[in-house]
Amino acid sequence: MKHIYESQQFTVPRIMELFERTPLMKRIVARGGTQDYHTKILATLFYNSSTRTRFSFESAMLRLGGKILSTEHAREFSSEVKGELLEDTIRIISNYCDCIVLRHFEEGGAKRAAAVSPVSIINAGDGSGGQHPTQALLDLFTIYNECKILNGLSVAMIGALDLGRTVRSLAYLLSKFERVKLYFIAPAELQIKSDILQHLDEKRVSYELSDSLEEVISKVDVVYQTRIDRERLSNYHLDLSRFNIDQSVLGKMKTDSVIMHPLPRSVELSSAIDSDPRAAYFRQAQNGLFVRMALLTMIFDEE
Ligand code: CP
Repeated sequence: MKHIYESQQFTVPRIMELFERTPLMKRIVARGGTQDYHTKILATLFYNSSTRTRFSFESAMLRLGGKILSTEHAREFSSEVKGELLEDTIRIISNYCDCIVLRHFEEGGAKRAAAVSPVSIINAGDGSGGQHPTQALLDLFTIYNECKILNGLSVAMIGALDLGRTVRSLAYLLSKFERVKLYFIAPAELQIKSDILQHLDEKRVSYELSDSLEEVISKVDVVYQTRIDRERLSNYHLDLSRFNIDQSVLGKMKTDSVIMHPLPRSVELSSAIDSDPRAAYFRQAQNGLFVRMALLTMIFDEE
């Protein structure tokens, strides 16, 4: 677990160890942080834009007493501009820090970085259609926190699932738990890719593909909405409004279900439902800080 580049790396005991540490991190934040990790330096190297992932990792390191080195737009503000290879950039930055959080524009970028890095690499999202494992960890923690169980849950994942990094990573994590049922809801053109379905088949995880939110919404414990990148989809000429979650959908949902979204959102998730108790997406984003603090402590404690 020196490097974290995909969700499959996590075993259930490791996930539960992380989830046991996470509430401790919430208490540390409540008392203003700790200096326990004051010798540690975290580098955040982001080649694509981010609000939640970069700020929460940086806040996590600061709350733990460490320091940060950061570039928010490495394609412009690193030697990528001069044609430097990712591997060389990682070799150099690893001299200056103890851990690198990397968002790279190519699928497999984090794995390439891990292959040459003497310090831990954490994948903060690779390419379109790669993975975002720390998002999946905070998503799973939120499900656990809201539903109090992980076995036996029904989860609907909605959106442009073919390239959905968060959905892909979360599907891998959920596949580790018993009697989970997954519903992938998308137009056929944007459905989840066969590599995930093959994995679910191997793990004997029950799933259904559907293009109807209405048919599924009343059956599930967790509704995991994702952003639909309308620019990418403009040439598909699809009516995507039927996948939106708004007040008209709320009445069809279980009263104790949970609505999640990795954010940022667009029209697929109406702000009119923000005050509904089932809307967990802002709690989910806040959990990102605590889960990432816990993850950093696990990495540093095992060095
Ligand atoms: N959920 C997520 O990865 O958000 P950012 O792109 O803002 O980091």
